[in-house]
Amino acid sequence: MKYLLEVRQVSKCYGEERILTDVSLGLQSGQSLAITGQSGGGKTTLLSIIGLLQQATYGTVIIAGHDTGGLGPHDLTALRANYFGFVFQRTRLVHSLTALENVMVPAWLTRQGKSAAVRAQELLSRFGMEQRLHYRPQELSIGQLRRVALARALLLRPQVILADEPTNDLDPAIAAEVADSLLEICKEGKGLILVTHDPALAARADVNFYLQQGCLTKQGRI
Ligand SMILES: Nc1ncnc2c1ncn2[C@@H]1O[C@H](COP(=O)(O)OP(=O)(O)O)[C@@H](O)[C@H]1O
Ligand SMILES: [Mg+2]
Repeated sequence: MKYLLEVRQVSKCYGEERILTDVSLGLQSGQSLAITGQSGGGKTTLLSIIGLLQQATYGTVIIAGHDTGGLGPHDLTALRANYFGFVFQRTRLVHSLTALENVMVPAWLTRQGKSAAVRAQELLSRFGMEQRLHYRPQELSIGQLRRVALARALLLRPQVILADEPTNDLDPAIAAEVADSLLEICKEGKGLILVTHDPALAARADVNFYLQQGCLTKQGRI
């Protein structure tokens, strides 16, 4: 069985407080996982550990068969930039850049600027943003900001997309469009892990997990 990534017995503590306890999961090629759970349950923390944005206190994250525990900062940065696409809960766009420029940021960081420029425009157009390419974040609605963030995550065709409540604040038609685009990457043998409060979106994922008080349990299909 080919895993894009595995989380093995990960626990996370902030000081005395334990946020995650013995969390394990595997993401196979072509698979989508949805994680639901109460606010403050550790969903965003888990995504950030999977995406190598922060380290677990205990346990390991295995990426494409490699234990990431032994990697130095240079290798971790390269993996984050090339293996993962992030859709953050608070979009984290750069306010001084336009929508198009924000989508291009991962390409600039990995020196793929020219080849990615056409794709950046295509992605924004696909999300109905072709009239807003040169708007800055403060001139866009929350739904439009989320679409820019999604285009940025998809730009370099990462192996795994990590999406934190990607359809929040979107009207149903746009939410469906965003969900389609996210799930589409699984058809190419890639993987998706999404955190959501939206039961309709969770139901479209292959596997559903519930995170409660730091413990992850697999759910039957909704
Ligand atoms: N950097 C941090 N330092 C201390 N506590 C944190 C930090 N990040 C998150 N927490 C705490 O961890 C808990 C889980 O947060 P989070 O992962 O954001 O939950 P969720 O995404 O499920 O709402 C919360 O109680 C939050 O206050
Ligand atoms: Mg969260």
